[in-house]
Amino acid sequence: MCGIVGYIGTKREAFPILVKGLQRLEYRGYDSAGVALVNGNHELSVYKAKGKVADLEAFCADKDITGSVGIAHTRWATHGEPSSLNAHPHYSQSKNLAIIHNGIIENYAEIKKKLMNHGVKFLSDTDTEVLVQLIEYIQSKKNLDLLTAVQVALHQVIGAYAIALLDKRHPDTVIAARKQSPLVVGIGDGEFFLGSDASPIIEYTDKVVYLEDGNIAVMKLGEDLKVVSLQNEKLLPEIKTVDIDLGQIEKGGYPHFMLKEIFEQPECLKNCMRGRINVEHDSVKLSALIDYRSWLINAKRIIIVACGTSWHAGLIGKQMIETFCRIPVDVEYASEFRYRNPVVGKDDVVIAISQSGETADTLAAVELAKEKGAFIYGICNAIGSSIPRATNTGTYIHVGPEIGVASTKAFTGQVTVLTMFALTLAEAKGTLRHNEYTRIVKELVEIPEKIKEVLKTNEQVADLARTFTYAHNFLYLGRGFSYPVALEGALKLKEISYIHAEGYPAAEMKHGPIALIDSDMPVVVIATHNAMYEKVRSNIQEIKARQGRVIALVSKGDTTVSKIADAVIELPDTLECLEPLVATVPLQLLAYHIAVCKGKDVDQPRNLAKSVTVE
Ligand code: M6R
Repeated sequence: MCGIVGYIGTKREAFPILVKGLQRLEYRGYDSAGVALVNGNHELSVYKAKGKVADLEAFCADKDITGSVGIAHTRWATHGEPSSLNAHPHYSQSKNLAIIHNGIIENYAEIKKKLMNHGVKFLSDTDTEVLVQLIEYIQSKKNLDLLTAVQVALHQVIGAYAIALLDKRHPDTVIAARKQSPLVVGIGDGEFFLGSDASPIIEYTDKVVYLEDGNIAVMKLGEDLKVVSLQNEKLLPEIKTVDIDLGQIEKGGYPHFMLKEIFEQPECLKNCMRGRINVEHDSVKLSALIDYRSWLINAKRIIIVACGTSWHAGLIGKQMIETFCRIPVDVEYASEFRYRNPVVGKDDVVIAISQSGETADTLAAVELAKEKGAFIYGICNAIGSSIPRATNTGTYIHVGPEIGVASTKAFTGQVTVLTMFALTLAEAKGTLRHNEYTRIVKELVEIPEKIKEVLKTNEQVADLARTFTYAHNFLYLGRGFSYPVALEGALKLKEISYIHAEGYPAAEMKHGPIALIDSDMPVVVIATHNAMYEKVRSNIQEIKARQGRVIALVSKGDTTVSKIADAVIELPDTLECLEPLVATVPLQLLAYHIAVCKGKDVDQPRNLAKSVTVE
């Protein structure tokens, strides 16, 4: 995790660009922040503060923040507690160099010991400081230029990194390198920008280069961008044009990104389906499935790898693919899959789902499956991120940048793509009756309007949230397609309100969780009119018999559950397989409003980061 920003030019002051960039990247970590600047007198200053970017800004209020060259960092602690000492940038011992880093240097302890034996003194507990001290040691010991010293040092480190370095003796140059952690270089007119993603850059230029693993970028004033490998081979940077609207990464009048992103879902899902669903012919086409048709229709098994919310989307995808395409699907936590020598081979298709496209465990699972010969399909949001680049093919969900740490629109986007994937594959395999296929496509197109209807319950959900803010525990129950929705509802609540919540298949309740139920326990039950309705209704009776407090999601016009539940939220009718797309939305709102009532930091909950680039 951690966010990296850099700027080098002549026309602008670096500090405002760096701070704005850090604010955009704060979703990646926010326990401390720092900036290094070279001023007109070639002095290198580092300013750091514990806390958020706003704390750094306040800290810098009376400092010299002039200069048109700088690097900045927002941290998610791995090695060393959150403190201003452990915040980045880190100086080298002579204070000639300053570094920022996203990733983990795994062999830092060993390198640190060697450097300490050579008299190097350390100020922080971080693995990052080891890297800058190593670079300086190599530079001075062997009398090397900075680029060569960086190359030699990076050969010695094990781990993941995106780094940027300043050397006050060469204030016309910024050097950056990456392995496993993302890094984007923006190319302006006589100036360069750097970011962990494109969001700090797009305000100034739409021309970017996504650095590849093992690449080093040399941004020198008056010269073109130079990209070399660790072995110093000259590489041709591929300049891409990014198409992100600035409005997409700002709050647009909402108090929090999370609420904005919840409300964006109707539009996002339309974007996700645009060009893929032909409404006149009620058909779906995913270009990836056309190009790689034989791989996909001949798959003996599909394995979905993902983490967190993306894993929940995978559980829905499993039910959809198995039901429509009759292919067995396993859904694996990427972090487990990668470490247990899984049985996977050339007859398997592995689907990697990731909003950020940078989740370290999912990326590692992709690499492992690739080595074993599987065909890899990515379902990601962040364009040009590492996972889509590592896959054979895939489909972007196109829901726009998701900034709130709690994933909302990415989840519904992932489920929409998985639905289109299952439908396209089912049609190609001939496993779904045509009228059934058409019925689902028609209904999928209606989903954005149905979500709009659900969003009208916002005030009602906010009232409910006020009633239930007292709770220390919540249970979420659902069956079939609604079971992953229960898991997702519980995850949303715990991550932003810090209330303990569990998602369960409703029928499992009597095998243990029922013991928890008393008059303090709110139980959210998805009880819509589907094949499981009667069974779920009995589960609600069981909860009420033990004085539990039931919040039920019911189909519009339901009169039965409404009589026994403490509160109901009505959902528009849809097909059972598409219910997750509407039922998830009130649960996102419920978590949001409870967190707001409790005064929590909704967009940046404690201990979390948006992009989990560490194992
Ligand atoms: O970027 P990814 O989809 O790979 O991220 C996976 C999880 O880290 C993510 O879904 C996490 O669980 C969210 N905070 C959930 O809201």
